[in-house]
Amino acid sequence: MVSEQAAQVLVASNRGPVSYTLGEDGELTSGRGGGGLVSGLSAIGPDTNAVWVCAALGDGDREAVRRTGGRLDTGDTGGQRVRMLGIPPEVYTDAYNGVANSTLWFVHHLLYQTPLEPAFDSDFRARWASYEAYNRAFAEALADEAGDGAAVLIQDYHLALVPGMLRALRPDLRIGHFSHTPWAPVDYFRLLPDDIARQLLRGILGADRAAFLTHRWADAFTACCTELLGGTGNTAIGVHGLGADADFLRERANRPDVDERLAELREQIGGPDGTPRRTIVRVDRTELSKNIVRGMLAYRQLLTDRPEWRERVTHVAFAYPSRQDLAVYRDYTARVQEVADEINSTYGTPGWTPVVLHVKDDFARSLAAYRLADVALVNPIRDGMNLVAKEIPVVSETGCALVLSREAGAYEELGDDALVVNPYDVSATAAALHEALTMDDDDRAARTKRLAAAATALPPQRWFLDQLEALRDG
Ligand code: F6P
Repeated sequence: MVSEQAAQVLVASNRGPVSYTLGEDGELTSGRGGGGLVSGLSAIGPDTNAVWVCAALGDGDREAVRRTGGRLDTGDTGGQRVRMLGIPPEVYTDAYNGVANSTLWFVHHLLYQTPLEPAFDSDFRARWASYEAYNRAFAEALADEAGDGAAVLIQDYHLALVPGMLRALRPDLRIGHFSHTPWAPVDYFRLLPDDIARQLLRGILGADRAAFLTHRWADAFTACCTELLGGTGNTAIGVHGLGADADFLRERANRPDVDERLAELREQIGGPDGTPRRTIVRVDRTELSKNIVRGMLAYRQLLTDRPEWRERVTHVAFAYPSRQDLAVYRDYTARVQEVADEINSTYGTPGWTPVVLHVKDDFARSLAAYRLADVALVNPIRDGMNLVAKEIPVVSETGCALVLSREAGAYEELGDDALVVNPYDVSATAAALHEALTMDDDDRAARTKRLAAAATALPPQRWFLDQLEALRDG
């Protein structure tokens, strides 16, 4: 018997739309996140009976779950019904850090240094058991919340087993899975133990539709299914290239807090005799896949090979903290800081800081940097999409040249108007930065216009509705 509150549309993701911090006085403060899913889900309107199922990530979230039983106060969520799962901390840590972020993320982004890693031993098997338990908790909660024939949209590599588990519990549901990451090529996917590789594929194939950000990742998934399982069975494969939200960005980027940050940044960047310096802007979470260090090495090579740029350009690099529980991420963050310091001490002058690096997350400051970008540097080793590549052309005030890795999902839509680089080729990236800085104004303006049009072709709300419609019609 399905309750009156049973939902017709369900979203499941590890990170939910809200998170809590626990103060020393025991008070809980809630903060709401942004991103494609949050604005996508808003497209279905408040009258649709929708529920978002997510995990408690930290102590604040766990306390909120303890106080509410997991059904969060809608006053904290902007009206959205949210069911937060209080998965035991050791199970959660093993699933999130020990499998999803260390293994699955590494496989899909090709991040291993293979002479030494990965090594799938009995410790890994124990963490895998936690990953299964964590996926099961989601499947059970979704089965519990869903109305007859409801549509369930399951997100990402954290929840790869959920579609299969949910299908077994509730054959009546329409189930979709969406991967926001790349998908590994077959030979690399086969680094995983054979049984686990098959279990992951079968898990996703439990969905009616498995969808991806680009054709390239969809084809890689299909190739893995063909090689390991003989095909994709009855599961439809879809592609939905999430775009930037132009209306939101343009409005948000012109608020007073962004104006303030813009003035501060301009001051920091400066310029000889009042002539503003040119800017090469990058904004990333400090993930190993973002290739921030090679980006700085390319900038250093630009300053070495072409001394005419010294004093005339600044690399504005925002590298915001991500997954700092993992040592390899902390080490990488430290390396980013070291390389920036090295460049500044080698080339800096009393009036010029060659790399302006910020490591504290500040959305308003990111938008300010977008506004002043002459060149956007987006050079990931591999990336599901990379929304920064789509956002900067929309917001930049004077038009920006985009230096873009061919390994970013965004390359599929933006490649024609970007300066495309192999992310491992530091010299070629340095040459592309020079070309970007010297691009003539008309060419730059025309390209920016086309980039912005391509970048906003599928805004988050349409992206979400397309998936829902395809799932229901399938
Ligand atoms: O950017 C790809 C992605 O998989 C997003 O879909 C997801 O929100 C994020 O990475 C996960 O990151 P985190 O570990 O910080 O929640």
